[in-house]
Amino acid sequence: MLCLGIETSCDETSLALVRDNILVDQVTFSQVDIHSVFGGVVPEMASREHLNRVGVLYNELLDRTRTDPQEIQAIAVTRGPGLLGCLLVGLGFAKGLCLALDIPLVGVNHLHAHLMAPGLEGKIKFPALGLLVSGGHTSIYLINSPLDFQLLGKTLDDAAGEAFDKAAKTLNIPYPGGAHIDRFAGFAEPDQKMFPRPYLDNTNLDFSFSGIKTAVVYHVRDNPRLVLADPEMVDQDFIPPPELATVCASFNWAVAGALKVKLARALARYKVQSVVLAGGVAANTMIRKTLTDLVREQGLEMVMPSLSLCTDNAAMVAWHGSLLIRNGYFHPLDLEAIPRGRKIPMDYHRVN
Ligand code: KG4
Ligand code: ZN
Repeated sequence: MLCLGIETSCDETSLALVRDNILVDQVTFSQVDIHSVFGGVVPEMASREHLNRVGVLYNELLDRTRTDPQEIQAIAVTRGPGLLGCLLVGLGFAKGLCLALDIPLVGVNHLHAHLMAPGLEGKIKFPALGLLVSGGHTSIYLINSPLDFQLLGKTLDDAAGEAFDKAAKTLNIPYPGGAHIDRFAGFAEPDQKMFPRPYLDNTNLDFSFSGIKTAVVYHVRDNPRLVLADPEMVDQDFIPPPELATVCASFNWAVAGALKVKLARALARYKVQSVVLAGGVAANTMIRKTLTDLVREQGLEMVMPSLSLCTDNAAMVAWHGSLLIRNGYFHPLDLEAIPRGRKIPMDYHRVN
């Protein structure tokens, strides 16, 4: 089955074609440069940019893959969580195409799609634990099958990626700062006393990263020389001053440590065959290594998407949507967009 995936939940406009279990091709426009001057995504601008790009990218994808629109058999679109205006652009485009081509529509949960992304590259063994660490979310799931997700814990405030980006902003490191902090951390050893691993003094599987973000603010207030003079000095070759590298390594260590403790707790409570690590922050070197070591020590398989499938992309949407459609799930044309903060309803229709 040939399924078109559409992703417009935040600042990436992405369209992809998946045939059965194979990614045919993907086109993505990242708005990162547009928003970086503002230090974060500006929702209104993001929606407008999606509106300007989505049709052009659709034509580019069909041209590149020499696909006739009539060959597309289903459309999967991210229906949430995300920025409402951004989601509406994707949903409007998807619904219009479904009407024109007379094919089924399915709305995909962006978070489930992130966790299922590695399924495009290999088989995931179920039941699995899924740890999603992105700019908007930090959640842990028990995944019994690609269609059965149980939320075990989530962040009570900031997502891990948000904490990375805000810590970076405090240090005048360009947005999005996560990848820069990751690279800078490689130049130093962490000082394990600088920032405590946050929110471990409990028995739950939730996370909290707002405290560590504030700890960075206080640390920088007491050590103002840490702040970079100009974010534009940061490029691929920029070598951070040693003191700044230590702050980055220590911050990275504390976040990785908090994720490790909660994942270990979940592994002690649920018998699973594998662990899936997904989301933009899953690209982080220290987090990848810390969590992989933990999972392998327990004799389990660690499943991580390749870096191109970690960040927002339509391949994961097309892939998860095609699984849903092949199992008989679809949505009618009144499919609703669900913004961040609202629970995504299980409102699929089913053909038998
Ligand atoms: O999954 P994603 O592309 O977007 C969301 O759906 O949120 O994640 C983006 C987030 C940003 O906060 C970015 O700073 C962070 O992922 N990120 C990283 C790294 N690469 C991207 N954080 C830490 N280390 C990295 N290497
Ligand atoms: Zn995402």
